[in-house]
Amino acid sequence: MSAHNRSQAWFGAEGRSGMVYRSWVLNQGYGPKMFDGRPVIGIATTWSELAPCNAHLHRVAEAVKRGVWQAGGFPLEFPTLATGESLMRPTAMLYRNLLAMEAEELMRANPLDGLVLLSGCDKTTPGLLMAAASVDLPAVMVTGGPMLSGKYEGRDVGSGTEVWKLEAEFKAGRMTQDQIRVAEGCMARSDGHCMTMGTASTMACMAEALGMQLPGSASWPAADARRYEVAQEAGVRIVSMVQEDLRPHTIMERAAFENAIRTNAAIGGSTNAIIHLTAIAGRLGVALSLDEFDQLARAVPTLVNLMPSGRFLMEDFCYAGGLPVVMRELAEAGLLNAGQLTVTGKSVGENVAEAVCWNREVIRTIAEPFQPRGTGTAVLRGNLCPDGAVIKQSAASSELMNHRGRAVVFDSPEAYHAVSDSDDLDIEASDVIVVRYAGPKGYPGMPEVSNVALPTKLLKQGVTDMVRICDGRMSGTGFGTVVLHVAPEAAVGGPLALVETGDIIKLDVPARSLQLEVPDEELARRKASWVPPEPRARSGYTWLYTQHVMQADAGADFDFLQGTRGHDVPRDSH
Ligand code: FES
Repeated sequence: MSAHNRSQAWFGAEGRSGMVYRSWVLNQGYGPKMFDGRPVIGIATTWSELAPCNAHLHRVAEAVKRGVWQAGGFPLEFPTLATGESLMRPTAMLYRNLLAMEAEELMRANPLDGLVLLSGCDKTTPGLLMAAASVDLPAVMVTGGPMLSGKYEGRDVGSGTEVWKLEAEFKAGRMTQDQIRVAEGCMARSDGHCMTMGTASTMACMAEALGMQLPGSASWPAADARRYEVAQEAGVRIVSMVQEDLRPHTIMERAAFENAIRTNAAIGGSTNAIIHLTAIAGRLGVALSLDEFDQLARAVPTLVNLMPSGRFLMEDFCYAGGLPVVMRELAEAGLLNAGQLTVTGKSVGENVAEAVCWNREVIRTIAEPFQPRGTGTAVLRGNLCPDGAVIKQSAASSELMNHRGRAVVFDSPEAYHAVSDSDDLDIEASDVIVVRYAGPKGYPGMPEVSNVALPTKLLKQGVTDMVRICDGRMSGTGFGTVVLHVAPEAAVGGPLALVETGDIIKLDVPARSLQLEVPDEELARRKASWVPPEPRARSGYTWLYTQHVMQADAGADFDFLQGTRGHDVPRDSH
C-alpha cells in the first residue's frame, strides 16, 4: 500500500491532528489497519427516496464497497444532492450546478484518494461528472441502470414517453382517468431510471462513451444482478486507478467528447446531452461549440431503435449487446477516436473490439441504419437564434422540417396551458407555437417545457404535431417538432422576446435555419421598448443562479465554476 496517497495527509498525520482524524472514523468500528496508507475511496451517492430513480443506489453502493474491500481499499460512502427529475420544482435543472458545486467541495475537503460516482436520474450523472472533472481525482462512474420495460395492455410502454402519449389520448377523449391510473403504474415496474432513451439513459451512455464508466455498464437494468456485478467491478477497478493515478483529465480529453457526441447521434440520444456535455467539457478547459455538435453528428446515422425516436426500450438495448455494439460499429466505420483512454486503463477501441450484437432489430448497422446520416439533432442559426437552437429531427415530423407559419406567442408555459384547452383559442395546425421566458435565467432553471401538448381542439381534430419554439428544454423522453434551447433566451433580451403573434417564422432544418420574417428596423423598434422581466428572486440560491448561470449554448453552468480547481487543500486547521 502506498504511503503517498492523499488520504495520508489526514490518516498518517502525527500529533493531535492525526489523532483527531483517525479517532472519529474509528467510531464506526473499522479498526486501525484502515490507516495504513491503503487507497481511501469515496462513494459519492445521489441516493434519495425523493429521487425515485436513485432510490436503490444505497444497495449499489454496497456492491461497490465489496469491490473496494476486495482490492484492498477503504470505502467510505457519502451523500450528495439527489436531483430527482420527477418531484423537484420548479425543475431539477435549477439544482444541477448546486449538486456539482456541493459534490466538488466534499470530494476536495475529505481524505479521499479515488471516487466512485453513483448516479441515475437525469441531472445526477452530469452533476457528478462536472464535480469529478473540477476536482480531478481518479473517478469511475456507476449509473443505477434503467427500469424494466413498462408493460400495459400487452404492449411496451416507455416511462416518460408514454406520459406525453397518454396525456394526448386523455385530452382527445380516447382514455378515461381510471385507465390512466392503471397505465401510470405499469410504466414503473422496478428500481431504476427511465427506460426510454431519455436523458438518464442518454447520460449513462455518455458516461460510458466518455470512458468514465465500465464498458456495457450503462444499459444493465437496475433490477438485473449484472448491475451489482459491474458495481463491484468498478469498486475493484477504482483502487487500481488510484495506484495508476488515472484521472478524469486524461480520460475526458477533446477526443472523448467527440466520441460522446457521435455516440449520442448513433443512439438517438437526448438533446439535453448537448447542454450537459458542454458543461462537463467546460470544467476541463475543452471548448465545445454548438456547431461542432452538428458537424460531428451529421456524419453519423442513428443505429438504435429506441423510444422516443423508435420502438424498443433499454432492456431490449441491453440484451442486444448495449453500447459496446454501437461503439464498435462507429469504430469500424472510422467514426470513433478508438485510441482514447478509458477507466479500464485500455483504449475505447480495445474495450469494444469483441462486442457482439444479438438483435439487429434493436441495434442496426452503419450499412443499414435505423435512420440515415444527417437526421440526428441539428443546430439551427438565424435571426431568431443568433447563438443557436437545436431540434431533434429523429423525434420530429419529416413533413414539418421545412415549414413557414404564423407565430402564436405565449410569455410562459403557464400562459399557454391556461388557454390550451379552450375551443376559442385562435390557432391552426399550420401555426407555430412560441413559448418563451423559459430559459436558464428566465424561468429560472430552463425547465423541460418546450414540447407543450398541442391545443386540445386540434388534438380532437386528429392533429398529431406542430412546430413549437422555446428557450427551454425538452425531456429526453419527449418528441415532436420542437425547436429548443433558443439562445440568447428571451429573459436577457434575445430576439425571441421580440416576436409578436401574427409574425411569420420560417423553419428550414435541412438548411439549419430559423428566421423571423420581420424587418431589422421593426425588430430594433421593438427592442427599444422591450422591458426586462422582474427578477424571479432577490436572495437565496435562486438569486445566485440567475446572477451566474450562462446561456444554453455555453452549457448553463455557473460562470465561476468553469475549469479545474484540483484537489489540493491549502490549509489544515487541526
Ligand atoms: Fe428520473 Fe426519468 S424521472 S430518469
